[in-house]
Amino acid sequence: MRILGIETSCDETAAAIVERDANGRGLIRANVVLSQLDEHRAYGGVVPEIAARSHLDHLDRLIAQALEEAGSGFDDLDGIAATAGPGLIGGVMVGALTAKAIAWARGLPFIAVNHLEGHALTARLTADDPAEAAFPYLLLLVSGGHCQLLAVEGVGRYRVLGTTVDDAVGEAFDKTAKLLDLGYPGGPAVERAAERSARRRAEAGEETPRFRLPIPMRGRDDCAFSFSGLKTAVRQQLERLDTPPGEAEREDLAAAFQTNAARSIADRTARACARFTAEVAPGRPLVVAGGVAANKVIRAELARVADAAGMTFLAPPLKLCTDNAAMIAWAGAERLALGLTDGLDFRPRPRWPLADLADRAPPGAGAAAQAEAGA
Ligand code: KG4
Ligand code: ZN
Repeated sequence: MRILGIETSCDETAAAIVERDANGRGLIRANVVLSQLDEHRAYGGVVPEIAARSHLDHLDRLIAQALEEAGSGFDDLDGIAATAGPGLIGGVMVGALTAKAIAWARGLPFIAVNHLEGHALTARLTADDPAEAAFPYLLLLVSGGHCQLLAVEGVGRYRVLGTTVDDAVGEAFDKTAKLLDLGYPGGPAVERAAERSARRRAEAGEETPRFRLPIPMRGRDDCAFSFSGLKTAVRQQLERLDTPPGEAEREDLAAAFQTNAARSIADRTARACARFTAEVAPGRPLVVAGGVAANKVIRAELARVADAAGMTFLAPPLKLCTDNAAMIAWAGAERLALGLTDGLDFRPRPRWPLADLADRAPPGAGAAAQAEAGA
């Protein structure tokens, strides 16, 4: 089956064409992403009204481009999937209404996709062999708005093991970058600054780090996260400096922040691996998803944690970690394969936690049934 996917929930306008074969193998035919970064840069963050208008200006053209790259027309499609939440509601409405209009005009099924489910199922699209990412698996979802550990037991079946009590980790990266004046978007800026710090310190033969920061939540026996204290600690270190911070100090602080954010994530995830192994199943994969999964230091920590827990580690290619429409098309394909479609009266939702998807799972089919059905 061939699905058109549309993503407009934040500051990326995206359209993709994805195929799913009878064995559950995915193939990306086209994946077009237009970032609005430059339109929001001056404000240091995403402005919802600007985002919605920009989606409206560009989406039709991007859909045409995706179809052309895939060598298809609307007639070759089996369904239209769009992010229907959670996200900035103006943008979500632009994407969902466009998808509904195409579905109605062409008589095709419409699939309302939860953006987080898109991230959660990406590893099944990118796995070399679908069996590698069969259900169940442990998912760490780390993005600008979300930070949670979930047991993924099937399409629509997500159980939260732990979440953040304050900021999402991507948000903490973004705020820290702002504090340190490193530029926007914050995550990649912090990562680059930390790399410059490591290079300079190695050349100077400095071994002990200049700044000491806390490792949030380390050793707690739940799977919760917290990042606002770490961000505040960065601010306090800045305030303690006698002179205005130079480039080297700002980069060293970025490095200290990233190291401890990564250690905290590793500690929390190790806890979740133990719980997942005991409560769900041993030897299943650890999957990471969301924009922060693009961070190389965090990926390396997670690979180590998975290895220690006897789990394989699956991380989508960097390009499919951040927001894109291929993941939305794929989630649509997974749903359509199970006969799960939505009415054109489906209302876009600004808030829509993954744990609320139980009413959108196939009836009676648990992980085992979905695995057997080749889902
Ligand atoms: O999944 P995503 O593209 O959008 C949301 O749904 O939130 O994630 C964006 C978040 C931003 O907070 C961004 O700073 C962060 O992911 N991010 C990173 C990196 N690349 C993106 N954080 C740390 N290191 C990176 N390399
Ligand atoms: Zn996202």
